[in-house]
Amino acid sequence: MTNVTVIGTQWGDEGKGKIVDWLSIRADLVARFQGGHNAGHTIVLDQKVFKLSLLPSGIIRKKLSIIGNGVVIDPWALIKEIETIKKQGLKITTKILKISSKASLILPYHQKLDELRENAKGNNKIGTTGRGIGPAYEDKIGRRSIRVCDLYDTESRKIQLKTAITHHNTILKGLNKKPIQVAYINKILNKIAPILKPYITNTMDLIISANRSGKNVLFEGAQGTMLDIDHGTYPYVTSSNTVASQAATGSGIGPALIHNVLGITKAYTTRVGNGPFPTEQNNNTGELLGKIGHEFGVVTGRKRRCGWLDAVMVSYAIKLSGVNGIALTKLDVLDTFKEIKICIGYKLNNKIIKTVPETYTEMNKVKPVYEVLKGWQSSTQNCKKITDLPANAKKYIKQIEKLIECPISMISTSPEREDTILVKDPFKQVN
Ligand code: IMP
Repeated sequence: MTNVTVIGTQWGDEGKGKIVDWLSIRADLVARFQGGHNAGHTIVLDQKVFKLSLLPSGIIRKKLSIIGNGVVIDPWALIKEIETIKKQGLKITTKILKISSKASLILPYHQKLDELRENAKGNNKIGTTGRGIGPAYEDKIGRRSIRVCDLYDTESRKIQLKTAITHHNTILKGLNKKPIQVAYINKILNKIAPILKPYITNTMDLIISANRSGKNVLFEGAQGTMLDIDHGTYPYVTSSNTVASQAATGSGIGPALIHNVLGITKAYTTRVGNGPFPTEQNNNTGELLGKIGHEFGVVTGRKRRCGWLDAVMVSYAIKLSGVNGIALTKLDVLDTFKEIKICIGYKLNNKIIKTVPETYTEMNKVKPVYEVLKGWQSSTQNCKKITDLPANAKKYIKQIEKLIECPISMISTSPEREDTILVKDPFKQVN
């Protein structure tokens, strides 16, 4: 039995959905362990496009799919997503979707607060997805979350709601906004509870017993390392830990069960929302990367900022998550470029550094140092083996491996699942 954890090594949108979908054939169970419906995973199956936010990507392959305790769940968004996927012809039954009773809920006041906070920030906006993710995680840490189990545990719900509403109404009063009515929240929770109840269970036990009976688990990370609450470009981050160790906490397993970690790295870099981005190309190159790569957010539709691959950043992500293999995605987006750049260091205060600065203010000041490689200017799509790739594409890959000191296990050259080159199976890789 082997478990694989998939994480993003950049600012999210690395193409995790396709890789998780591809790997889920080899997995018996797919589990989400952090984030919420701020995530957007696109999966193309038989030319049908599925856009997932909260549902684990394994659902498309009818794999047992788990929403772990580390996820924040907007129950209305989840039900809507289930309905949308059902309309696309996929059955989502209580046999294949399981929700942790310990996950925290996103309620309407979290979304409202997210919006109010962002509006109040003026030029310093984080550029959140506006889904209430931050306020919901704040309530979790503040011990006033309404959790999934509170949908039917009325005793605990009563106490939690009192604490949460007292807290939020104090804030709303200060902002001259209408208070939240407990009766209203109770009413909407009562309505949603019976719909979700059949999916709710002890997901920790499910995962552990699956492992004990020799089954493979795929842990599906959302967002990316540079959006991690501790290690990302704070405060321009999301409100959860996006690194691999969160797979343990966010699903209830011990860290020794995180066997292999596959880091997903896009062949260039993108970012949605505000915050530092050293290799950003605010020019024709950036426009071209965005156009060829269809770089628009799945969740908000926002245009993504685009730039060259940053090997300093990817190396940092590899260290943070103990990544032992990389899936390089969207290589085909670079097919037409004459020259391709890789950031190999940063210039800060007249010194060259090879590490990610600890503060966003310093990260804003760094100037990338590039290595320039020749493009291959031919198509990489339909390449089934690494040897099929154009010579300069192979050189690009070799150079990345050298710079990040980690092997590339998979290469993706189009959104279609068959356009994937497997170098080393992450389920078979030995740590
Ligand atoms: P939040 O997670 O909605 O609070 O947003 C915080 C930051 O994370 C913003 O810059 C968002 O654009 C970014 N973000 C959140 N989820 C994703 C994602 O799935 N992909 C890329 N960026 C994300």
